Amino acid sequence: MCGVVAVLGKENASQLVVEGLKKLEYRGYDSAGIASVSQGLLQTIKSEGKLVNLTQKLHRSTKEKLYLNNSIAVGHTRWATHGNISFENAHPLTSENKIAIVHNGIIENFEILKKDLTSLGYNFKSKTDTEVLPHLFMKYIKLGNDLLEAGRLVLKDIKGAFAFVAMSVDFPNQLFVSRNSSPLAIGLGDNAKFIGSDAHSIDHLTQRIIYLEDGDHALLKINNLDIFDKDYKKVSRKIINIHAEIGLITKGGYNHFMEKEIFEQTVVLPQTTSSFIKNKSEIVIDFDKFGFKKKQSLIICAAGTSYYAGMVGKYWIEQIADIPVIVDLASEYRYRKPSIFGQSSMLVISQSGESLDTLMALRYGKELGLKTNAIVNVEGSTIDREVDYSLYTRVGPEIGVASTKSFTSQLVILFLIAVGLGKRFNNLKTFQIKKKCQLMNMLPSAVANMLETENQIKLVAKNIKNSKSVIFLGRGLLYPLALEGALKLKEISYIHAEGFAAGEMKHGPIALIEENVPVIMFLISDGNENKSISNLQEAHSRGAKIILIADKKCIDKAPFAHFTVEIPDFENEFQSSLSPLLMSIPAQLLAFHVAKERGTDVDQPRNLAKSVTVE
Ligand code: M6R
Repeated sequence: MCGVVAVLGKENASQLVVEGLKKLEYRGYDSAGIASVSQGLLQTIKSEGKLVNLTQKLHRSTKEKLYLNNSIAVGHTRWATHGNISFENAHPLTSENKIAIVHNGIIENFEILKKDLTSLGYNFKSKTDTEVLPHLFMKYIKLGNDLLEAGRLVLKDIKGAFAFVAMSVDFPNQLFVSRNSSPLAIGLGDNAKFIGSDAHSIDHLTQRIIYLEDGDHALLKINNLDIFDKDYKKVSRKIINIHAEIGLITKGGYNHFMEKEIFEQTVVLPQTTSSFIKNKSEIVIDFDKFGFKKKQSLIICAAGTSYYAGMVGKYWIEQIADIPVIVDLASEYRYRKPSIFGQSSMLVISQSGESLDTLMALRYGKELGLKTNAIVNVEGSTIDREVDYSLYTRVGPEIGVASTKSFTSQLVILFLIAVGLGKRFNNLKTFQIKKKCQLMNMLPSAVANMLETENQIKLVAKNIKNSKSVIFLGRGLLYPLALEGALKLKEISYIHAEGFAAGEMKHGPIALIEENVPVIMFLISDGNENKSISNLQEAHSRGAKIILIADKKCIDKAPFAHFTVEIPDFENEFQSSLSPLLMSIPAQLLAFHVAKERGTDVDQPRNLAKSVTVE
């Protein structure tokens, strides 16, 4: 999603901004731009597509001395919301070539503001909601306000979720910033200030970071930073020392981040496990903090892959701890007036910790009086900072847009929450707890074994790469995995894919089956496999191409399957309890190899953003 970077007080500021934008590429974007002020002139360079187009333009302009050296610059990667992907709609957006704005979020009342500004003679060049911002600044500066006062008047006018930076030729050594629900970090340097959508985007410049709180605005000068809350009260926000992650964010010899992230699961999952299991069977989760002083229901909210992890969590927590769980899409939760009867605790799940839907659900849960908890990967993210209690997946930065290691690590924590609650409410005996913790410790080598299915998966990928539509099926714990498998495939290969509960096929989706439609089933011998095989048989009888990803016993029971991917032999309890964790590996590999076969952009698929910071 949109990324914002700004530099104040450093030579070659534009170049430094571009370096910051590169670090935000993983978030997803479709155009980019920078602006700087030098010798009283505002200079803007923008381009559609990838950053390389922008850097080439910047290079040419610098070589031809059209672009001046500067020590103040703002930059942006845009993920289109209002207005198509075009040069005109790319940020920075300007007014009278004197004000430049970079913005992440949506100005919800832009239409009415645009009407007013147009009637005052302001000329709109883009179709964006953002363009009201530079014109509003212009209007207030023309009335004699300084940058801070103008910014405050703008904030009074606008509604929505945003993080923006304003730069003006009239105040060439200042930047105005504000945030409301969209992430923004300020970096402190020696005689310099920096701004980034996340701390990582400016960690090549400083490790001293301040996160603005919602409703805050600030005026940055080279040697001064004034932060104000929504009531204009001067406030000081905590300075956090971060560690630069530069070394970690490489492809490590792989061609794609997604590939690297799939394969490193053997190494990073123990990092998750080890922070929650001590002395072999002690689960280190504070259930008092979590809001479970007594046995009550749990509400889980999340989006996308994290939501599917939540679905698996529901199955585990209900089975293992006998605690009722409701799982809701974060984008639905706060708009449906949910009942909190019997609940004291909410769990949100988010890799980035910045998904606005999830953040809003969390805030709503708080308003309703629930204790709020998060399974989150990015420490210091907005969700991490706002929640009462965070459980960190600790799998390192995930750069590929498709979630892989974050999904499996979320599952690890959800399983341990189930076991921990089972212990707390006497639903498990000591030996059962020990056993379940042992299962977790067997996970890394099991994941390594599952990765060995890659060659079988490659054959399937070649076979289905030209399909128009693919159906994924699963039952029980593998039903959420069918949904996840379909999501993974569609987002990076652009093939239409749907996941269904195997038993639901006959209630409607079976109408989709026609000659050669691939039907992929995840299956494990768990006592219910015969039912699923019957569902598969029904699809087979109607001409579907049957692809079975299963253990040997199941494969033997389905000789009619066209393709099989045999998973290694694991101990029964291990296999049936942790099947979603195991099967997510072939699901990820399949999506990856189909995308590779089709030549799509695996790490930055079209239209998608890693961190979805609009509702
Ligand atoms: O960062 P989050 O876990 O909150 O993100 C939620 C979804 O946007 C995310 O899982 C998305 O569905 C992924 N691209 C799936 O691979």
